[in-house]
Amino acid sequence: MAVQFSYLAKKNWKPKNPEKNYIITLLKVELSKLALKEAKKQKKSIKRVFEDAAASVAAESSTGTWTKVYSGKSSGIPLAKKLRAYAYDLDYKNFMFKVAYPIELFEKDNISGLLAGVVGNIAGMKMVSAMRVYDIRFPKPFINAYLGPKFGVKGVRKLLNKPRGPIVATVPKPKVGRTAKEEAHLARILFTSGNGTYEGIKDDENLTHLSFSNFNKRVKLILNEVKKAEKLTGNKKFYLANITHSNIDKMEKRAKWIKKNKGIYMMIDVVTTGFAAIDSMRRKDLGLAIHAHRAMQGFLTRDNSPGVHGIGKLQGFSVSMIFLAKLYRLLGVDNLHGGSPLAKMEDYGEAKYIQQVLQEKELKAHKTIPTLGQNWHHIKPVWMVASGGLHPGDFEFVIKELGEDIILQCGGGLLGHPDGPEAGVIAIEEARDIALANIPIKQWIKYNKNSPLSRAIEYWGYGPKIVY
Ligand code: 3PG
Ligand code: MG
Repeated sequence: MAVQFSYLAKKNWKPKNPEKNYIITLLKVELSKLALKEAKKQKKSIKRVFEDAAASVAAESSTGTWTKVYSGKSSGIPLAKKLRAYAYDLDYKNFMFKVAYPIELFEKDNISGLLAGVVGNIAGMKMVSAMRVYDIRFPKPFINAYLGPKFGVKGVRKLLNKPRGPIVATVPKPKVGRTAKEEAHLARILFTSGNGTYEGIKDDENLTHLSFSNFNKRVKLILNEVKKAEKLTGNKKFYLANITHSNIDKMEKRAKWIKKNKGIYMMIDVVTTGFAAIDSMRRKDLGLAIHAHRAMQGFLTRDNSPGVHGIGKLQGFSVSMIFLAKLYRLLGVDNLHGGSPLAKMEDYGEAKYIQQVLQEKELKAHKTIPTLGQNWHHIKPVWMVASGGLHPGDFEFVIKELGEDIILQCGGGLLGHPDGPEAGVIAIEEARDIALANIPIKQWIKYNKNSPLSRAIEYWGYGPKIVY
């Protein structure tokens, strides 16, 4: 492969003015048995085989193919040569490298087109047996082609009249089972129990428009509870209504219904609906914030092999959640599920960095996780949603790790409270408030033995409870 001309940069080559001219990716590969066998036959060193693999990645994802092709008149070869991507910064020990793509290779406001290039075909190459794409870095002209979040962290704080502190929300469990009326009843309990400071309710991923829970009816009933509870408690509330659909027109219709009923948020499953759906919904600018749930993400990002952080062997093909988080921030979601340092799901220690990917303006590369950093220019910070197996016993640690610009989402961690949902609300309010006041939870528990928070800790303890 890559025989037309070389896609391997000369030693010490660096892209010129990358902030203006290049999209960069960072990857690691494992060489397949087939490639090594072939190399032995041709008496090639491992070093050379790795160089071939890196160059092939750059070729296949930019302007090349597996063989030399016609290069005569009108063949397009001169431009293909000029615009080729280069594999560079090769790490021969860990088989990691970067690829620099001249921006002319892609349409700036078209993420789907870009991905079809940079990660489109490369996972199919026979000369590699594993690959992980760790990160992508966008230059300013690309960033300028996107709106980013409409509201972001500050905008949502304004909508909710909440200048500081994390937001708390609950996804009903069972995840499907309540009728629209029953979910509205739960909303009332969440919004009005305890001190009346509980903020949000969220549909679960598979709750869309079902025979026993009609979308329009559910939105109307729950937003009605929002209004009533706001009046009663004096605190703002929200409902993350799941508009996920494979037909964007239907999503738009549902979003408009939320707006008509004075909702402020739509929830979209961003992996299953796809990049085109998110880009389209954002650009329609319907006046709603976008809550991005990430069901199916594990099939793209999960990699339990030792080489997941660069050192050691890789065993599968994946992209990182860091890579995805960058795409969704660029496309303009306002909240994104990013895992949590204590979630029930694998997070590879990335949760804290994902929060930085979502919220920092000039993101630096991580010290140990292979990353590239990013200058976000005008793109606003996004709320990090910590979710998945969370319960009040985790709040102290999670808030300390991720900061206050987070949404703490507890489904089972509220509805599984041994004394019922009302006690679940209070336990979460207590855990949030003492963490914000910097009171160590273990100390507080000693003096408040009969509190709902103590009961929750007795039941779940500290740290992740659900592992499956
Ligand atoms: C979600 O959609 O965020 C999950 O269903 C969380 O559920 P859990 O809090 O019970 O883990
Ligand atoms: Mg869920």
